[in-house]
Order: sequence, then C-alpha cells, then structure tokens
Amino acid sequence: MQISVTVNGTAHTDDVEPRTLLVHYIRDTVGLTGTNIGCDTSSCGACTLHMDGESVKSCTVLAVQADGSDILTIEGLATDGQLHPMQEAFRQNHGLQCGYCTPGMVMAAVGLLAENPHPTEAEVREGLEGNLCRCTGYHNIVKSVLAAAEGASA
Ligand code: FES
Ligand code: FES
Repeated sequence: MQISVTVNGTAHTDDVEPRTLLVHYIRDTVGLTGTNIGCDTSSCGACTLHMDGESVKSCTVLAVQADGSDILTIEGLATDGQLHPMQEAFRQNHGLQCGYCTPGMVMAAVGLLAENPHPTEAEVREGLEGNLCRCTGYHNIVKSVLAAAEGASA
C-alpha cells in the first residue's frame, strides 16, 4: 500500500505492508532512528513521536494509519543547529542517563507542555506516566520538564 506523509517537514511517499508499524516505517524506511523501540507492546513510550501535533506511541499505529499526516520526530525538534528548549532543559538538568528513553520522553514532554504550558510537578509526573525510564532517572526528567516550562533551563 502506498502512503504519503510529511516527516519533519519533508514529504515522503512509500510502499508499505499493511502490517508495518509506524515506528518501523520511520526507522527502517525513512531512516530516522532517533525514535526508539523499547517494548512494542505500548508500555514504554520510547517510540513516542508527534502525529498531527499529538503525541503518539508509534508502535501502536500502523504506517497506513499515518497516511496523509504530519509527523514530527526527535530529529525534527532542533532548528538551525539550536536544540529545542526541551532538549536544552534535559541537557542542563541531567535529564538522561543511558539516553534510551530520552527521545520519547522529550517528545512526550513537548506534547505535554503544548497542552499544559505551566504544569505542576504532579501534572508532569502524570503526563509522563506512559513513558518508562529503565535507568529510573525520573527525578531529573521531571526537573527538566519543569525547567523548560519555566523557560529557565538551569
Ligand atoms: S516501543 Fe512503543 S511503547 Fe514501547
Ligand atoms: S535514561 Fe536510560 S532508560 Fe531512561
């Protein structure tokens, strides 16, 4: 089946199998491997990206369901060599350890602040509950998101 999507501002038209998951399409066909696969059972959030402005776990979406959509992945967040404020906040607040969960955390966090620009700590924790960090670095992840929300990343 043929699908057409925009990924990080670039149009792509590709043939995919009906069973192809969006995360596999993004990684294997589009070639953007920043979107990670941690479980493929919709548990971990490592595969989170934005589809038409909404955070989605891309292992729960078929590539054909994304036909016609506008997709943003972690590779599309930085602009002109400048980290996105959320990426900068994670960097400044040591919001990552091994980094495996980080792309999904950052994408989920950007989506969270788009819906709720000034969350409480409890709201950040609740908003990110679908994203697991096997390094258990949650304290600094939450700190990073709150710093980004304050517009102060230090
Ligand atoms: S790989 Fe999608 S939720 Fe874990
Ligand atoms: S930093 Fe290692 S899984 Fe989160």
